[in-house]
Amino acid sequence: MTTRVDALCAEYLSGLRAYLEEEGEAGLALAYELGRRAMMDRLGLLDMAAMHRAALDTVVLPANPAHRARYMDGASAFFNELLAPFELSIEGYRAALAASEERFQLAVSGATAGLWDWNPQTDEIYFSPHFKRIMGYENSELPNVRQAHFGAIHADDAERVAQSLKSHLETRAPYDVEYRVRMKSGEFCWVHSRGQALWNEAGLAYRMVGWILDITDRKRDEEALRTSREEMRRLSAHIQQVREEEKARIARELHDDLGQQLTALKMATSLLEPSGGKPVTVTHEALKGIYTMIDDLVQSVRHIAADLHPVVLDDLGLIPAIDGLVDEFSARYRIRVIRHLDPDSIEFNRKCRIDMFRMVQEALTNVARHSGATEVVVDIKRADPHCIVRIVDNGHGAVTDGARKRHSFGLLGMRERAALLGGEIRIRTAPGAGFALTAILPLASLEAKDAD
Ligand SMILES: Nc1ncnc2c1ncn2[C@@H]1O[C@H](COP(=O)(O)OP(=O)(O)OP(=O)(O)O)[C@@H](O)[C@H]1O
Ligand SMILES: [Mg+2]
Repeated sequence: MTTRVDALCAEYLSGLRAYLEEEGEAGLALAYELGRRAMMDRLGLLDMAAMHRAALDTVVLPANPAHRARYMDGASAFFNELLAPFELSIEGYRAALAASEERFQLAVSGATAGLWDWNPQTDEIYFSPHFKRIMGYENSELPNVRQAHFGAIHADDAERVAQSLKSHLETRAPYDVEYRVRMKSGEFCWVHSRGQALWNEAGLAYRMVGWILDITDRKRDEEALRTSREEMRRLSAHIQQVREEEKARIARELHDDLGQQLTALKMATSLLEPSGGKPVTVTHEALKGIYTMIDDLVQSVRHIAADLHPVVLDDLGLIPAIDGLVDEFSARYRIRVIRHLDPDSIEFNRKCRIDMFRMVQEALTNVARHSGATEVVVDIKRADPHCIVRIVDNGHGAVTDGARKRHSFGLLGMRERAALLGGEIRIRTAPGAGFALTAILPLASLEAKDAD
């Protein structure tokens, strides 16, 4: 390198000397060429300045004072020409930088991701306008200060994000995290953030560029899916348990109720058996007692069967069955029921009948158990293309969220039944404002032909 600098210095010196004598264009062209070669040799402006200074000392200062001023001007022109390639390259560099900056800004403004660009050494940071928009701010509202974003990260996520950033900078592990960040409105949104640092030769991170994406909707869907899976799991566990309890109840009723009645009947009939060759006189009283026992037995069997599946549903149809249910309900709980059951025109198929019956049954049971109501409206009507079922009470209502209690399955089961019919359940309630439950069920599914 030194020999190359020395050679260049020598050429510069002789070139300057020749130029000062002739002051021709060719001399300036040589200065330009020397400048270009110096650049190719990766020499810098300081090298050029040192070279010129040496030339002044050697050529200009010792010159005749009468020529010195002219030599000074000539030397300056020569030096300017030497620097011209440097200037041109700086200009070109600036233009390239401006173009790349423009491309960056275009990318930033068109991006769906919010971009950030951080200098870990000086802590200077840039947030793109969209970055700020994701957080609910206008470009001018959020300062380009690291804390403006990192300080707004949810307390439960902050440590995880800081750890991830630290290990990226220290061990170059990928920086790829999801976290919640507080928006201008005070609500939290979910973001997915990725970034990549640049390290210098000493292993020091001098820049980190990354993006964030708003993933709130995705997170909400995931959460809803998780909750619904969890509810389904609980519901199916509950159904298993109910099935076992139901079997136990039927076994108990068969044993305690029917079993005892049959034993009594057997004893009563055994008295009619001739004993010791003597004929038995069957009294009217004895026969009446036996008939009563048989009637009770029939009644018990009916009760057990009706509990398992209301036969009236198949014999008379949904509306008469609900009518009967409502009669029984208001007689038992002394709650006035106003009913509008007039969907004569709907041909409820067999599949939907039991689902709709159970929905109304559960809603009425809830009124009796939770509402403290004195009056309830049961309304079933056709509103093409739906059938609307409403059960509205004037009781003390509930906080809506209460409907998702851990050990409550009635509303959950109702929602499942409605969903299986292609419909949905809506609830309107508030403490002190009664409880209004509406099932919106598509007629297409209620009236679809039974498979048989
Ligand atoms: N008509 C109503 N009035 C006031 N609160 C009600 C009414 N219906 C339901 N709720 C509230 O909604 C909750 C959930 O009802 P849901 O039928 O799912 O469960 P549950 O009746 O508590 O238990 P089960 O699983 O035996 O049905 C109830 O615990 C009650 O707080
Ligand atoms: Mg219930």
